[in-house]
Amino acid sequence: MTGTLDITIEKIKKSRVSDYDINNVPFGKCFSDHMFVAEYADGKWQKAYIKPYADEPMSYATSAFHYGQAIFEGMKAYKNEAGEVSLFRPHTNFERLNKSAIRMAMPEIPEELFMGGLMELIKLDTDWVPTSETGSLYIRPFLIATDEAIGVKISDTYKFIIISCPAGKYYGEPIKVLVETNFYRAVKGGVGFVKAAGNYGRSLYPTKLAQQKGYQQVIWTDSETQQYFEESGTMNVMFVIGDTLLTPALSDTILDGVTRSSVLALARDWGMKVEERKVSIKEVFEAIEANNLKEVFGCGTAATIAHIIGIGHNGKDYALPPVADRKFSTKVDETLRNIRKGKAEDKMHWMVKVI
Ligand SMILES: Cc1ncc(COP(=O)(O)O)c(C=O)c1O
Repeated sequence: MTGTLDITIEKIKKSRVSDYDINNVPFGKCFSDHMFVAEYADGKWQKAYIKPYADEPMSYATSAFHYGQAIFEGMKAYKNEAGEVSLFRPHTNFERLNKSAIRMAMPEIPEELFMGGLMELIKLDTDWVPTSETGSLYIRPFLIATDEAIGVKISDTYKFIIISCPAGKYYGEPIKVLVETNFYRAVKGGVGFVKAAGNYGRSLYPTKLAQQKGYQQVIWTDSETQQYFEESGTMNVMFVIGDTLLTPALSDTILDGVTRSSVLALARDWGMKVEERKVSIKEVFEAIEANNLKEVFGCGTAATIAHIIGIGHNGKDYALPPVADRKFSTKVDETLRNIRKGKAEDKMHWMVKVI
């Protein structure tokens, strides 16, 4: 039961899990046995079901395709050595999804529907949760407008769907990023603070240009002054300058990352100086010149911690300190991995056990 909705469950006849080496599959391409679906119409959530993962026919007039009422989340389940499966901070993703729903004029999802569907789904697919050191089950909840009609308006019907896929490390190697001052990920008053599908579509062209120049990602700057760092690709960005951990403060152009908040919580717990404020390009490059920039990394659910070892700006490349010298991000990466894998105390009560 999810409040007033029963979840009907149709199990797969024969699991596909043995078709894959789930500890070694490419990210995002092989999906677990089941999916959760909830349908919204006539002003309320109507139906909730779990069924074998499968393509579903959709009209080409489906409004999500045309007008972008499409939002999503990214979260992970982990398996410990005893074979128990837990989710990392799922309520935070639930809350952020509803924040996205409000901004995109979509119906909010009741907590029981989100958590109930998620728990039932992951219970059925525990065999898909990798056991490797860096492995996890990546979970993709998403909400799409499903009215079959051309014409810009708020959709009357929606589907909330959860699918999942085994995942290893997202960026195998440390990355090089290009400071982007011509294209913006997000603008004041826009939707950068939520996980709207369009945010990702608009980022692809500038990212392609950066990749053609030999960088893996861009670091976005603010659209008003181009003087402040915002995020890196699909990650929040952090700097260690001297003994201070520095990250751009949340705003309507920055996503409130679950990993960001977890890294900040650990840093504060360890007594480190933490500053959430505007971080200027100028101060970061001055710190590089003064040999005072110790670490730069991106953080996010898919990547966890992605070390940034080079930054390009105005035609010049700056090498950053080697990963081996990065004490904070290495410790935070290890600590998060150990908490998630049940190998370190979960002091903050972040893990929610599924089974
Ligand atoms: C634009 C953007 N920023 C930051 C993040 C990191 O957020 P989280 O740590 O919740 O995955 C993501 C990833 O979802 C993202 O897409």
